[in-house]
Amino acid sequence: MLYSRKDGHPPPMPTKKKKRIGILTGGGDCPGLNAVIRAAFQTAHNFGWDVLGIEDSFDGLIDTRKTRWLKPADVRGILHTGGTILGTSNKTHPFRFPVKTKTGVVLQDRSRDVVRNFKKLKLDGLIVVGGDGSLAIALEFSKKGLPVIGVPKTIDNDLSATDVTFGFDTAVSVVTEALDRLHTTAQSHRRVMVLEVMGRHVGWIALHAGVAGGADIILIPEIPFDIQAVVAKIRERERRGRSFSIVVVAEGAVPVGGEETYQAQAVAGGQARLGGIGDAVAAQIGEITGNETRSLVLGHLQRGGQPTTFDRLLGTRFGSAAVRLALQDRWGQMVALVPPDVTSVPLEKAVSEMKRVPLDSDILRAAGDLGISFGSFNNASGEPREAVTARAPPARARRKR
Ligand code: F6P
Repeated sequence: MLYSRKDGHPPPMPTKKKKRIGILTGGGDCPGLNAVIRAAFQTAHNFGWDVLGIEDSFDGLIDTRKTRWLKPADVRGILHTGGTILGTSNKTHPFRFPVKTKTGVVLQDRSRDVVRNFKKLKLDGLIVVGGDGSLAIALEFSKKGLPVIGVPKTIDNDLSATDVTFGFDTAVSVVTEALDRLHTTAQSHRRVMVLEVMGRHVGWIALHAGVAGGADIILIPEIPFDIQAVVAKIRERERRGRSFSIVVVAEGAVPVGGEETYQAQAVAGGQARLGGIGDAVAAQIGEITGNETRSLVLGHLQRGGQPTTFDRLLGTRFGSAAVRLALQDRWGQMVALVPPDVTSVPLEKAVSEMKRVPLDSDILRAAGDLGISFGSFNNASGEPREAVTARAPPARARRKR
């Protein structure tokens, strides 16, 4: 708890020194970002501080024309809105900034510009709201002496230092609703419907929404799948008179011994785009079973629109907690939910480990008990889950921002 006397951090006292803090949102957008910005602004404003809105992630600190001092009117009516009023980017990286030249795109280190502009703007601190990529950049700046505080965001829920990130609950709700809709049409046509969902290298969205939405098969990166096990589950359902099946596939799901499926190569400074595994799985199911099979990709619908109540509340708690950390001059930290409190962890720890679905997870066990297949014969045949082979986490090089 950020005000707990136990950890030696007393509640804030009115401060005489007026601070100037910057706030930016980096990486892919996610529902709840505006709740963070609003809460951070209002908390800082109540302390009498000024808040600089920095646009398009770190780009605004490279080109300061993309900055503006926020006013109360800027954050009015944004609590329930999706996206980010500051704009964001997952294309650029200040330490490897893509610059077009006659011979093509070259990557330049523009971190000195960021530090110089931070000083020029007379900022006392910077709040970086981002996923593991943006937070890793924040950590690099923290090591260079910039007073930085991180706020974790991602629909993927893959940051290990926080129990959950805002955006995840909204994404799960969107996928669950899609599954409800797919059920009726799958049933009418006696089809297999395959839904590809986001989550990059982790299966949190697929697992939570798959269980909540009554999926029959859930394929996640943590459990490599065997298409024959997928087909076995569909056939088992048919034997029980269930003539349709719903399959949820995380975009990063991999067949046993296989690789992730990408739809686009990485461009300079960016990252390769996952996609296509749903189509591939649907094609194989159709070919092997002869059943009518359709696939769809939910894509960015999972990131758009209004945040759920949970995400608004968590975003609000994170935003105000970040400013409280600034008040206490506790830089180099990231706010984190450690239920029931919002607390903080060193940024270093926050970005050190990707949070993957543990194979002994209670949700996995419940799903297994219900007969949901994870495309593994170990799971389908009822063998102990420990027999399921975990896949090594992917290289940290493929970070999100
Ligand atoms: O990290 C969030 C996320 O939505 C991933 O789930 C997905 O792989 C990626 O971002 C998509 O990024 P982009 O917005 O660049 O398509």
